[in-house]
Amino acid sequence: MLELRDVSYAYPGSPQVVTNVSLTVERGARVAVMGENGSGKTTLAHLMCGLLQPVTGEVLVDGIPTGDAASIHEIRRRVGLVFQDPDDQLIENTVEREIGFGPRNLGLAPAEVESRVDRALEVFGIQDLRGRSCHLLSAGEKQTVTVASVLAMEPDYVVLDESTSLLDGEARLRLISAVERLLTETGAGLVLISMRLEDVWLCDRVLFLKGGSVAFTGGKEDIPRRLLDDGVPLTGLPLLLGRLDGIVPGFAGRVASGRVLSAGSLAAALSGMSGNPKGGAACP
Ligand SMILES: Nc1ncnc2c1ncn2[C@@H]1O[C@H](COP(=O)(O)OP(=O)(O)OP(=O)(O)O)[C@@H](O)[C@H]1O
Ligand SMILES: [Mg+2]
Repeated sequence: MLELRDVSYAYPGSPQVVTNVSLTVERGARVAVMGENGSGKTTLAHLMCGLLQPVTGEVLVDGIPTGDAASIHEIRRRVGLVFQDPDDQLIENTVEREIGFGPRNLGLAPAEVESRVDRALEVFGIQDLRGRSCHLLSAGEKQTVTVASVLAMEPDYVVLDESTSLLDGEARLRLISAVERLLTETGAGLVLISMRLEDVWLCDRVLFLKGGSVAFTGGKEDIPRRLLDDGVPLTGLPLLLGRLDGIVPGFAGRVASGRVLSAGSLAAALSGMSGNPKGGAACP
């Protein structure tokens, strides 16, 4: 279990930016962390993998405190963080080397490293990038490579910090599907930081940060209503529609073609309320 116990943090010489946050993520659990710009999401991600140490409270990974200097390699092995900015993460010349970097560092045999690289390239659909130079990739390609390289290490907990932000709609869904497939196979826990509905739909639970504190926790069906209450535009709605049938049978079919579904009717439907989806408020 990845556990934050009443964690607070302030960057040296700065005011507190994370305040009394508690969260548990079991293996196999999928938790979305949402919040406006500057609400402390990235800071929380760095606290989860031991890159930052809480000023008060503690972070435990399967019972090991991230502050335990002797266990830092163990913490890094168990918690795989994908940085918000891919350029902060990419270190090798080629995509193949980059994806193999983590597995090599784990001390895996060369044949196993090769098999992890092959598999990651296949699952993420980036075989054509194998020999390419990381620094010449597009922003979206870089982002996909960083996610693939962290998942190739098969960590027990994966922390994705806005890892689809540089991808367009279809590429984003492909990446999410690949992540979902690997998580199902490995049983890893997921912390997914995003403000995009089609990303966080992968998760079962959500934690909203506001000004560094937990504003709200709930199930994923609470997300649209919560975003609406906060006046956040629901992005990714059209992409999500195709998936809604599984939750509200026949829902997607009830949306007249070419009409824009209102965010309110989506929230109502997801909350199990009755009512016909109404056209109206434009959602991007
Ligand atoms: N290295 C730093 N030194 C001082 N303050 C920082 C540092 N990094 C972040 N902050 C501040 O901490 C607060 C939380 O930042 P953080 O990056 O964790 O938020 P975020 O929710 O990830 O934002 P975004 O959505 O823009 O990625 C912000 O006020 C930010 O300005
Ligand atoms: Mg951030």
